[in-house]
Amino acid sequence: MNTTLDTNDPFWRTVLERRSIRRYTDQPVPRVLLERLLTAAIWAPNAHNRQPWRFAVVIGEKAKHRLAQAMAERWQGDLQAEGVAPEEATHRTRNSYRRITGAGALVVGCLTMAEMDWHADPQRRHLEWVMAVQSTALALGNLLLAAHREGLAACWMCAPLFAPDVVRQVLSLPADWQPQALITLGYPAETRTKTRRPWQEVTVWR
Ligand SMILES: Cc1cc2nc3c(=O)[nH]c(=O)nc-3n(C[C@H](O)[C@H](O)[C@H](O)COP(=O)(O)O)c2cc1C
Repeated sequence: MNTTLDTNDPFWRTVLERRSIRRYTDQPVPRVLLERLLTAAIWAPNAHNRQPWRFAVVIGEKAKHRLAQAMAERWQGDLQAEGVAPEEATHRTRNSYRRITGAGALVVGCLTMAEMDWHADPQRRHLEWVMAVQSTALALGNLLLAAHREGLAACWMCAPLFAPDVVRQVLSLPADWQPQALITLGYPAETRTKTRRPWQEVTVWR
């Protein structure tokens, strides 16, 4: 730990104590808290201030079930296509289903290129898309920090990246919304610890 930090400072406590939490109690997540998290998300820095993020908040039990079920089915097929034994694939997809439906609320983070710049050069076009991905990730990072600050637990799941068409279809999202991540939210039913390599190991000074 860097001893120059004031670890009682609310900012540092939020940054240092947030963990990815994957199990939640049955306590419902108040809508007002979800609205606060979305507020944190939209104040993230973003490319050209075009705000390419879009969010689908899923709170209905039926909608959670439909989404979790459809993604599990797609994943089951993908795993078996990769040679994973059916029982092992079922084990993994059941866990994923339980995690998603066990969360009080879900936020599916998406991006849209609708208001980003268009470039004739494919490489520049790709980089514009990368900026939209980066902006959306920053928004979701803010959202995760805000969740922790508000007493909620959360975890990022990458699953929508692998089944964007399924997510779009189940949630009836606009065609230009590209699902990037699923954030599960709820009140924590577990605690976790994590370590990090010290910044000195991953930083060069010039
Ligand atoms: C881009 C990204 C993808 C992730 N995908 C998953 C995932 O699919 N399933 C999961 O359980 N956690 C996922 N996580 C959470 C990471 O595992 C977690 O942030 C990491 O282990 C560090 O732990 P911490 O968040 O508690 O500090 C993801 C996080 C990020 C930023």
